[in-house]
Amino acid sequence: MNDFKDKVAVITGAASGFGREFARLGARLGMKLVLADVQRDALDATQAELQAQGAQSIAVLCDVRKAEQVQALADAAIAQFGVVHLLFNNAGVGAGGLVWENSEADWDWVLGVNLFGVIHGVRIFTPLMLAAAKADPEYRGHIVNTASIAGLQNAPTMGIYNVSKHAVVSLSETLYQDLRLIDAAVGVSLLCPYFVPTGIHQSERNRPDDVAADASLTASQRTAQAFSEKSVISGKVSAAEVAELTFDAIRKERFYIYSETEPLAAAARRMEDIVQQRNPHDPFADVPHVRDLLRARLVR
Ligand SMILES: NC(=O)c1ccc[n+]([C@@H]2O[C@H](COP(=O)([O-])OP(=O)(O)OC[C@H]3O[C@@H](n4cnc5c(N)ncnc54)[C@H](O)[C@@H]3O)[C@@H](O)[C@H]2O)c1
Repeated sequence: MNDFKDKVAVITGAASGFGREFARLGARLGMKLVLADVQRDALDATQAELQAQGAQSIAVLCDVRKAEQVQALADAAIAQFGVVHLLFNNAGVGAGGLVWENSEADWDWVLGVNLFGVIHGVRIFTPLMLAAAKADPEYRGHIVNTASIAGLQNAPTMGIYNVSKHAVVSLSETLYQDLRLIDAAVGVSLLCPYFVPTGIHQSERNRPDDVAADASLTASQRTAQAFSEKSVISGKVSAAEVAELTFDAIRKERFYIYSETEPLAAAARRMEDIVQQRNPHDPFADVPHVRDLLRARLVR
């Protein structure tokens, strides 16, 4: 997809961080936007900002964990604009701690948003895009799934997030192969950012009551939270820059999108471990002070 003008983009997690930057950039490129998020006030603020700039957009309150709400999002997009060209399965949340200490509610929440949100998006929107391609030989569609560098390696105290993002990598690579198999006019990209300043370290702000957290965090969960906050806040690349990189990858039909490439060294070591049948390397080998800090707080 090269020309974005008047094309329709659906963006989940559009009220903050990467999603809001995809929306801002899409608006600047003349796209029509369907903004979806679970946080009403932030969603309304994004919608107001874009409309003030003359963008054609609608805002849909949508919890991506829920299939019927993602279906309603697709129905709203089609009712308003008739077609969807670009889908960002982007909404996501974070939680951490030693992996056996996460509660069932933690798993329900993080896998619900990060994995089932993407599953529902792919399951519900891909057939709509394929139907649009069948009806119009000029049609080109594209799906961008947001995973993370955490989907390519397995750092300690991030297990619940790692699992969700590895699954998104697998789903996206398979989606790519399936679409190529049938010569579809729909492309796929996988966004794997490293730490970028957004609201991700404050994910609990939008944690629904049906998956409420335990009253008190364990020492490892507090440590993981502090680590995530420090890392996210001090991220070197901005969310706006990641949006630019992402649109550039869509233009060039590039599948893997990274905000930084240095962290891939740990991912490469992990893959080499698998092939060489070695035990897993320390993913913090390049930043030993981080591992030492975690150990200092957790090993008594
Ligand atoms: N910021 C980083 O360092 C980083 C790194 C790698 C991957 N990511 C991924 O980027 C994606 C976007 O996150 P971000 O960093 O912009 O964080 P963010 O918190 O700024 O934005 C996430 C948005 O998702 C929304 N959301 C949360 N639960 C939802 C739900 N159930 N349904 C619909 N929307 C929901 C939030 O309200 C928020 O507006 C996520 O998938 C995240 O895992 C972020």
